[in-house]
Amino acid sequence: MQRAVFAHIALHDWTHVFSPLRIRQCCLKHRALPVQLSSRAYSVIPPPRDEAEKALLHSMLRVDHAGEYGANRIYAGQMAVLGRSQIGPLIQEMWDQEKKHLAKFNEILAENRVRPTLLLPLWNVAGFLLGAGTALLGKEGAMACTVAVEESISEHYNSQIRALMEEDPDRYVELLKLIKEFRDDEMEHHDTGLEHDAESLPGYKLLKSAIQLGCTAAIFVSQRL
Ligand SMILES: [Fe+2]
Ligand SMILES: [Fe+2]
Repeated sequence: MQRAVFAHIALHDWTHVFSPLRIRQCCLKHRALPVQLSSRAYSVIPPPRDEAEKALLHSMLRVDHAGEYGANRIYAGQMAVLGRSQIGPLIQEMWDQEKKHLAKFNEILAENRVRPTLLLPLWNVAGFLLGAGTALLGKEGAMACTVAVEESISEHYNSQIRALMEEDPDRYVELLKLIKEFRDDEMEHHDTGLEHDAESLPGYKLLKSAIQLGCTAAIFVSQRL
């Protein structure tokens, strides 16, 4: 009961502090330009014209979100093992970019009421274990994992770019811009892995193939569930 009262008071206070009227008054007082408070009128995807387009776009966004979520968990696993090593800051740098990718897809999913994949709990655990497991093989293991995963994600984004370009590049201009930007980041991560001795891991090719097989399966099911 007491908690409910506090919650009510807190809500009331924040609403009061951040009410549009208060902010406008504050802007006028400090001669600052008022910030556009209304939510954006558009998202990166246009309002779907029919059920088929809605299903296609939702499936694309769902799998992209799942991929970025998985990537975040992989880097979290790598950091749990190698965070305090020399390679830690580099892994952190890539993870930070993945956090931005995921935040963007979280925003897009919410804006467009797209349901995330039902398999998020699985990618949570599997991603972390993959990251930590390969990092236990040392820096080269972590980098081999990065090369494999980032190559798969880049190829996945490239196939989406091709599909959207064939469909209607003008209609999907914003989404294409976003996916291309993220694809470039993933390719950079892939190159970073190669530059940091991924290929010198014994069994590199076998490990890479196994991880990429897993990525293909993850993409397949995340588009559907
Ligand atoms: Fe990413
Ligand atoms: Fe990446």
